[in-house]
Amino acid sequence: MLKAIILIGGPQKGTRFRPLSLDIPKPLFPVAGLPLIQHHVEACAALGNLKEILLIGFYPVAQLQEFVNDMQKQYNMTIKYLQEFIALGTAGGLYHFRDQIRYGNPDAFFVMNGDICADFPLAELYRFHKQQNKALVTIMGTEATRQQSLNYGCMVTNKDTNEVTHYVEKPSSYVSTLINCGIYVFSLDVFPVIAEAFNAKQEEYYRNGNGSRDTGYIQLEQEILSPLAGTGKMFVLQTSNWWSQLKTAGSAIYANRHYLELYKTRYPERLYTPSGEGGCAIIPDVHIDPTASVHPTAVLGPNVSIGPGVSIGPGVRIRESIILANATVEQRSLVIYSIIGRGSRVGQWARVEGTPSDPDPNKPFAKMDNVSLFNSDGRMNPSITILGCSVSVPSETILLNCIVLPNKELSRSIKNEIIL
Ligand SMILES: *[C@@H]1O[C@H](CO)[C@@H](O)[C@H](O)[C@H]1NC(C)=O
Ligand SMILES: *[C@@H]1O[C@H](CO)[C@@H](O)[C@H](O)[C@H]1NC(C)=O
Ligand SMILES: *[C@@H]1O[C@H](CO)[C@@H](O)[C@H](O)[C@H]1NC(C)=O
Ligand SMILES: *[C@@H]1O[C@H](CO)[C@@H](O)[C@H](O)[C@H]1NC(C)=O
Ligand SMILES: *[C@@H]1O[C@H](CO)[C@@H](O)[C@H](O)[C@H]1NC(C)=O
Repeated sequence: MLKAIILIGGPQKGTRFRPLSLDIPKPLFPVAGLPLIQHHVEACAALGNLKEILLIGFYPVAQLQEFVNDMQKQYNMTIKYLQEFIALGTAGGLYHFRDQIRYGNPDAFFVMNGDICADFPLAELYRFHKQQNKALVTIMGTEATRQQSLNYGCMVTNKDTNEVTHYVEKPSSYVSTLINCGIYVFSLDVFPVIAEAFNAKQEEYYRNGNGSRDTGYIQLEQEILSPLAGTGKMFVLQTSNWWSQLKTAGSAIYANRHYLELYKTRYPERLYTPSGEGGCAIIPDVHIDPTASVHPTAVLGPNVSIGPGVSIGPGVRIRESIILANATVEQRSLVIYSIIGRGSRVGQWARVEGTPSDPDPNKPFAKMDNVSLFNSDGRMNPSITILGCSVSVPSETILLNCIVLPNKELSRSIKNEIIL
């Protein structure tokens, strides 16, 4: 029996994801028609022998309850949300809930960062973990560019054994282009190692009167993984599968297209194929929720997801975009490289457009985590256009490279602005 832990963080973690995280917790943001972490749940369920998933984070329980119930029903497995009342750090959270994780004596457990989007090679990762003698941790790794690597955990390995010999989290200068993807297999024997780190911190507190007494805050990367490097107990499985991190709202567009691509082979029924009369024209890949209404003269795609209750009018053209629940796009409008928030309205003959900017999403390793609202010099740097929930775009206007916070009623065309 296996288990998985999905680390979902809390509301204050999603700031770079605004305005989309203002009305929906980031882990539940729909990508290719499914809440972000449902893709994790699905990958776990596909393993067959994975019987329990624990979500750990500090969102209020009420925000996760419905999702947890839905997932239990849909995947017929035990799924629980364990709320941290203070931020404990990744390893601190695992340690705090160690009894629940160990309960039932699983053979091992996965730990998955909730903000990762990927073609998760979980079966391969577990098989690899089992093959390593005395492995406590197996890390999923991928190759980045030198520049990108500095934003991640960097690993030096023994090429013959795949052992991690050196680990540095977000190094200030180049260490390695092999980076930590935030997906792991842990053996239960990792708990004594975390306990040691915990106890060392407590002792230091009592000795010096400083440090963090009893808060139990332990960072996985710096306090557990770095010291484990070179001990012969930590390994890396390097994958060339698609992988990215959903840090900014813009990176959702990138993740969306990749999940749609995966559907082609795994869940073709989730991709829209026009059939008979009444279907609209599409350029694959397109996902349309069955409760959405799309006019037959609309043209959608490529790389478009249409959410539940959405209404798309005659002659509308949408490319490379995500349209969230209950939004309306009125006739003859154009939406490109944009995210339209829940319940928003795009008036007729309007243009809502973003620009795919650096990093180029067409590059194979475009993590998009380097796209933020502001440049380092404070100038605004929006790329794709994002409308928060219940925004109204009037007819015959143009919105180019804009970010609009929820509940705004726009009255004119706007370019390169954040509308607060
Ligand atoms: C759900 O899982 C339980 C326990 O593993 C099993 O007994 C039951 O038949 C499953 N139900 C469905 C609908 O698959
Ligand atoms: C606590 O104080 C000791 C001795 O002054 C120092 O070496 C250590 O780094 C401090 N620890 C923290 C967590 O501040
Ligand atoms: C759609 O996404 C796929 C990747 O899944 C990409 O290859 C393709 O270029 C995208 N389409 C456009 C028009 O960018
Ligand atoms: C969409 O609208 C329907 C009907 O008003 C409502 O029941 C549903 O909760 C809305 N969905 C979302 C995600 O807001
Ligand atoms: C973002 O990428 C650009 C160009 O690729 C680079 O010059 C810049 O330093 C990066 N910024 C951060 C914060 O990594």
